Amino acid sequence: MTVGAASIDTTAALSRAVAGPPALETRDLTIRFGGHVAVNAVSCAFHPGELTCIVGPNGAGKTTYFNLISGQLPPSAGQILLGGEDVTRLPVPHKALRGIGRAFQLTSLFPNLSVFENVRLAVQSRRRIGLDLWSVWSANRAVREQAEDCLERVALADKRHLPVASLPHGDQRKLEVGILLALQPRIFMFDEPTAGMSVDEVPVILGLIQEIKRDKSKTVLLVEHKMDVVRSLADRIIVLHNGNLMADGDPAEVIASPIVQQAYLGIAAGDESAQQEGSHG
Ligand SMILES: Nc1ncnc2c1ncn2[C@@H]1O[C@H](COP(=O)(O)OP(=O)(O)OP(=O)(O)O)[C@@H](O)[C@H]1O
Ligand SMILES: [Mg+2]
Repeated sequence: MTVGAASIDTTAALSRAVAGPPALETRDLTIRFGGHVAVNAVSCAFHPGELTCIVGPNGAGKTTYFNLISGQLPPSAGQILLGGEDVTRLPVPHKALRGIGRAFQLTSLFPNLSVFENVRLAVQSRRRIGLDLWSVWSANRAVREQAEDCLERVALADKRHLPVASLPHGDQRKLEVGILLALQPRIFMFDEPTAGMSVDEVPVILGLIQEIKRDKSKTVLLVEHKMDVVRSLADRIIVLHNGNLMADGDPAEVIASPIVQQAYLGIAAGDESAQQEGSHG
């Protein structure tokens, strides 16, 4: 584990060299809002087959880091590399086409279309369909089947005909994940994916994230406040605090580290319940 920004670059890079080239990498990624540095020179590499949890107190810069990676915000400095290629300045749709997938907190849903149509559009958006009739027919069938499959996986098949606007919040969040599955990204980014869900909906989403994690070609980044979720899913944890990367390493070590527990998660060593109760996730 590395703790403290100064030691991170070399040690983390060395320990992951064996895992192959990073799927995603940020180099000195920085954004300033006026005088406030929300993400401060964060250098981190993420690998296929690895699920990294990003933790840290409210306002640490976790969502902003995601916004930079997915292209919602332009960095003030630094680079974003996807499979070694510099994608720092690409707009959101271009990054999405290259495999950066993010659930967009309901903003990407078409509220007046049905649940099924929302997923179908997502499946269609990443397919090239030929112009002859046979291609169109068979492609449409494949698109429908894939859309159905995504709906099954997020347990929304029985609500497929409902307009999205009529769904409760938890179902809309499940649909976001269904759309993300339909887009088949290489990098999955989840920002508190179960926030606002009822207790019985949470296992569906966590099960799906487990399933994605088993696909060793995928790279998963998960911002999560609930430490039991972090513990059950993370291969690796990074800690952000005041925009700085404060720790990076093995989950058990990071969670147990007194410096992380006391200074960066804001809880006394060994008492994770306070963090869970204090989270808004
Ligand atoms: N567009 C913006 N303009 C100005 N300040 C911003 C903007 N976006 C984020 N910030 C600031 O950047 C800091 C980091 O915010 P961010 O939302 O990334 O935190 P977070 O770690 O995701 O917190 P939480 O756990 O509460 O979701 C905060 O101080 C926030 O106010
Ligand atoms: Mg956030």
